[in-house]
Amino acid sequence: MMKIPLLDLKAEYAAMWDEILPALDRVCQNSTFVEGPEVAGFEREFGDFCGTTYCIALSSGTAALHLGLLAMGVQAGDEVITTPNTFLATVEAITYCGARPVLVDIDPATANIDPRLIEGAITPRTRAIIPVHLYGRPADMNPILEISARYNIRVLEDAAQAHAARYHQKRVGSLGHAAAFSFYPSKNLGAYGEGGALTTNDEAVAKFARAARSHGQTARYDHEFVGYNYRMQGFQGAVLRLKLRRLHAWTEARREIARTYRRLLESANLGMPVDAPQDECVYHQFVIYVKNRPAVIAQLAERGIETSVHYPKPVHLQAAYSSLGYPEGTFPKAERACERVLSIPLFPGMTAEQIDYVAAGVLETVGRK
Ligand SMILES: Cc1ncc(COP(=O)(O)O)c(C=O)c1O
Repeated sequence: MMKIPLLDLKAEYAAMWDEILPALDRVCQNSTFVEGPEVAGFEREFGDFCGTTYCIALSSGTAALHLGLLAMGVQAGDEVITTPNTFLATVEAITYCGARPVLVDIDPATANIDPRLIEGAITPRTRAIIPVHLYGRPADMNPILEISARYNIRVLEDAAQAHAARYHQKRVGSLGHAAAFSFYPSKNLGAYGEGGALTTNDEAVAKFARAARSHGQTARYDHEFVGYNYRMQGFQGAVLRLKLRRLHAWTEARREIARTYRRLLESANLGMPVDAPQDECVYHQFVIYVKNRPAVIAQLAERGIETSVHYPKPVHLQAAYSSLGYPEGTFPKAERACERVLSIPLFPGMTAEQIDYVAAGVLETVGRK
């Protein structure tokens, strides 16, 4: 029996430790543990990669969402529209600003926010929309940007799972007024600890975020407003610069594995999200939709295949957000997706043998259509 993890970060380190350790040593030798030249270098390189004028390195993706919203002027009494099918951080950032999260259901074909439902949720208090590029699949941005222009509402992309993805040939991170990235270790571009970034072409947003991440300072010990400690560590900048050089190759590998899975699972009795032909999904997760998920998980585990669920409960059914007052049944498409979704192993170093083994295991478990 093979043992196949959902993600293999140990193998990734084994392939690059001889580059990583000298880079970490450089940070120690220079004692640039917080921000410093590696972080500044990463900001330039990641901004270029995304095609944005500005990139502000931060301590996490959650910090990037928070500062992105604050930079757009979101404050107490405002409303921000987003999806219930996301990691809680997307919605927490809205709460941190004192604003109210307003949720709308997903398009079950993509698992992303359904742009057709957004207009109906707009009120005079709506200040921003956060589309999430879930699993690395770009949200349908054109109709969202059209609504944003018509109502003068800002758009903050949650690109935490979508480094290098493209929407109509443009990179995510450059589509909205600003975008939040996470470099949590398991992400497609992962740090060796926590990390995040805000990308934008808007100078005012960049200026605000640069000051806000370091206690509102515009010069050393010159605090223009009350800010945060959201700075990136030097080690993370050093690691991310090295990993960014490999991101194209890793992304191609992810997309190739996804194509193989789709071919091998074509006749399987399961559902999958749809890829728009003009977009490039970067497969942060490869998800399938199955009936009787607990049995499928158990049978795959018996075959040594690790799985995970992203996510088992939509935001509106989490205890943390019961106060929003969205009872079960409010967002039936998100609820159904959360009941059936299952992530199967996909990571750049996966061998053909491992891919075949997982696909065969899934096919045996769920049967044919
Ligand atoms: C969709 C989404 N948004 C936001 C975040 C928050 O990022 P972080 O964990 O870096 O704070 C994550 C990941 O954790 C995420 O998957």
